[in-house]
Amino acid sequence: MKLYGGGKIITGLIIFFFLVTFPFFLNIGKVNAKPEPKIDTPEIQKLAEKKCIEPKAFMRAEHMKLLNDWRDFAVRNGQRLYVNSEEKQFTISLQNTCMHCHSNKKKFCDECHNYMAVKPYCWSCHIAPKEKES
Ligand code: HEC
Ligand code: HEC
Ligand code: HEC
Repeated sequence: MKLYGGGKIITGLIIFFFLVTFPFFLNIGKVNAKPEPKIDTPEIQKLAEKKCIEPKAFMRAEHMKLLNDWRDFAVRNGQRLYVNSEEKQFTISLQNTCMHCHSNKKKFCDECHNYMAVKPYCWSCHIAPKEKES
């Protein structure tokens, strides 16, 4: 059987298929790209040892809890000094401690959070850093 104009219809369908799915193809790379939080900020470059306030694996898994504890220490107990597992002292402050080093919120915090679709609501009150990278 021969359908008049069948070729054109098929070509049309193929083009239609690509137009509809093209945005999806464009996104494949982005969706699968693992987040790569950047630590190349001016403050971190100054550090002799590129360390967070606690070991990296701990920070990665527990920073939300740590921040919660920090808020409770500061707000409920008025405690402003944090002594880490190596007896080093840090001021308890989201803005002046965490974000002082991690002054690239977009390429650090947001990099992971966007990927995981979490949106901490902190920045409606706490001031996000002026983006700084080096
Ligand atoms: C003195 C500078 C400094 C401070 C202060 C600091 N960080 Fe970090 N942070 C770093 C560095 C450097 C790394 C990378 C550590 C490594 O690679 O071992 C890091 C790593 C991390 C990681 C893990 C990133 C990953 O790729 O897994 C998280 C999460 C994190 N920090 C959150 C925080 C939070 C939240 C605070 C405040 C409670 C904070 N940091 C305070 C310097 C700092
Ligand atoms: C290595 C990836 C990574 C980095 C870097 C990171 N986070 Fe997170 N963060 C997460 C993940 C994953 C969650 C969600 C955890 C969960 O739901 O159990 C989270 C959750 C949080 C939460 C709790 C939000 C909620 O609604 O429960 C806060 C607050 C937070 N992050 C703050 C920060 C800050 C501030 C920074 C930058 C200094 C940062 N995070 C950097 C991965 C990261
Ligand atoms: C409704 C406003 C508001 C929101 C939202 C908010 N905070 Fe706070 N936070 C405050 C206030 C006010 C203080 C007390 C400041 C002080 O005593 O210096 C504070 C103190 C803190 C402190 C201890 C002191 C300091 O300067 O950092 C931490 C840590 C903290 N908040 C973390 C968080 C995190 C993490 C989030 C998001 C999950 C968050 N906060 C969301 C208002 C808020």
